[in-house]
Amino acid sequence: MEIVFEKVTKNYGPINVFQDLDLKIAPGDFVFVTGPSGSGKTTLIKLILNQIKPSSGDVLINGVAINHLRSKNEIDKIRRKIGVVFQDYQLINDLTIEENIALNLDIVNYPQNKIPSRIDEVIKMVKLQHRHFLFPSQLSGGELQRACLARALSIEPEVILADEPTGNLDAANAWNLLKIFKDINKKLKTTIIMTTHNPDFVDSLNEKVIKLGKTEHETS
Ligand SMILES: Nc1ncnc2c1ncn2[C@@H]1O[C@H](COP(=O)(O)OP(=O)(O)O)[C@@H](O)[C@H]1O
Ligand SMILES: [Mg+2]
Repeated sequence: MEIVFEKVTKNYGPINVFQDLDLKIAPGDFVFVTGPSGSGKTTLIKLILNQIKPSSGDVLINGVAINHLRSKNEIDKIRRKIGVVFQDYQLINDLTIEENIALNLDIVNYPQNKIPSRIDEVIKMVKLQHRHFLFPSQLSGGELQRACLARALSIEPEVILADEPTGNLDAANAWNLLKIFKDINKKLKTTIIMTTHNPDFVDSLNEKVIKLGKTEHETS
């Protein structure tokens, strides 16, 4: 999946987050999005998810300006190729890890008879073999984030958007998670777009970096 921003400007009322931002992410890229708090990292993720619209400019996915799409069907079709990992996990607390993943697969109409084997596969990829029957409250932060990655992966996405996935993890767990993301990118060719505060990550992997501006500034 190719993701292109063409002269994207985003304002929230008087706050200008970016101005005429151009960028291009090719299929299979691993891209870090860095910048201080308030620089627009989450905004960039939400624009790709079509959760918010640019104030001007276009967000193109495989050449289609998604911000102009009207058909819910077409929007859903693109949305289903994108997996998301959040800093605060967003798992459902009264479902086990495997039930959380199954729910995600249900939502995208994954073939019912293939759901159990798909859950096994993704659980193995993130090395949670002895944890999948537990509830979120029974897992450590590192395990929770791997569970979220398994959930994101389950739908066989072309792209995974990860918004500060290591933000709540200690260094050892953060590096461990980063390595799993890296392996997925390498083996499955899944595009990874990861926002992070951590300059060590960005320095350690020789990957593309999108640097967003300083803190917000007022328009006009
Ligand atoms: N829904 C919103 N309404 C108004 N301002 C917002 C909204 N979302 C984000 N902002 C502002 O936009 C700027 C960028 O926010 P965000 O994308 O969350 O930055 P980051 O993820 O890099 O910390 C911040 O100044 C933030 O306060
Ligand atoms: Mg953010």
